[in-house]
Amino acid sequence: MRLLVLGGTVFLGRHVVTAALDRGHDVATFTRGLTGRPPDGVRALHGDRDDPEALPRALDGWAPDLVVDTSCQSRPAADNAAAALGSVRGYAFTSSLNAYSTWPPGPIRGEDEPVWESDEDDYGPVKAHAERVLGAALPGRFLTARAGLIVGPHDNVRRLPWWLERIARGGRVVVPDALDQPIALVDVRDLAGWLVEMAERGESGPVNTTGPAGMTTLGGLLAECRTATGSDAEFAAVPEEDPLAAGVEPWLHLPLWLPREAARTAWDVDTTRARALGLPSRPVQETVADTWAWLQGTPERQPTPHGLPEPGLPEELESALLAAR
Ligand SMILES: NC(=O)c1ccc[n+]([C@@H]2O[C@H](COP(=O)([O-])OP(=O)(O)OC[C@H]3O[C@@H](n4cnc5c(N)ncnc54)[C@H](OP(=O)(O)O)[C@@H]3O)[C@@H](O)[C@H]2O)c1
Repeated sequence: MRLLVLGGTVFLGRHVVTAALDRGHDVATFTRGLTGRPPDGVRALHGDRDDPEALPRALDGWAPDLVVDTSCQSRPAADNAAAALGSVRGYAFTSSLNAYSTWPPGPIRGEDEPVWESDEDDYGPVKAHAERVLGAALPGRFLTARAGLIVGPHDNVRRLPWWLERIARGGRVVVPDALDQPIALVDVRDLAGWLVEMAERGESGPVNTTGPAGMTTLGGLLAECRTATGSDAEFAAVPEEDPLAAGVEPWLHLPLWLPREAARTAWDVDTTRARALGLPSRPVQETVADTWAWLQGTPERQPTPHGLPEPGLPEELESALLAAR
């Protein structure tokens, strides 16, 4: 079938393109042409999705059967896609757990938790708006994947890559004294292939797309990083209060770490529907090893998406925390 990827050249979209090609589709990408090119055999359509004329002009009569949308970050982007693509047979959209107005801190018991209804142009309200307009344009044919933490090769958000690179350098690595904190993640390749399949099947409705709650812990993930990199790094656990007092921002400076109180509910996300719809969850060990293999092999460093700061612990903060132990 003719499958259009809105996006397709950086991280999740890149893997969606690969999965769609593997499944025999006639694939087109729609991007501005600023951050890379799709592989040979893919129709590379160009335009800014915030411009209402751009998508119809680029399609120029090529009518997709299916859409996987990985690039929606604004209200006009959603409105324009809804206007141009309302007749497709299946549309799989990448939203976020941030579409829920109650998350963080959560918990998220199922897909019926409230979503943002506000007019703000923040990330969560924009995703919730996109879900509403696209869902109305494609009744019964619009699936919205409310993604949690996505990791794997080509990760330009660089949370797991930062840990891998830091642990690979070895020595004493500051870790929060919260290694038993549960973590759930979804491998980008599992999510990408599943999105293509959901569009093919014309599945609809919201789905919390992350790994099963309790699939690993912060400590389990970091131990996999040490194994994958063959590092002799020593984890120097600091009481949670120390990094907070030193000005460390959870999630940003120590990626994937949330203070105990937030972690208790934020990682508690019900993924029953994702499991029922067959979202795979490959072993964490494989995700970590493949991400490390990619990091070692790639000279290219994509910018972080929509202006997010680069994650990681600044050296001066790390030194101060180690000295205080
Ligand atoms: N990473 C996570 O942990 C996480 C968690 C929850 C949800 N999500 C969501 O998952 C998705 C991740 O997607 P990705 O960034 O990896 O997808 P991607 O499709 O690989 O990359 C983003 C694409 O969007 C294109 N693009 C950006 N602005 C555009 C515009 N105005 N008009 C047309 N094309 C545009 C970019 O190409 P050009 O620059 O060439 O235009 C690029 O191809 C996002 O929707 C994100 O909100 C991510």
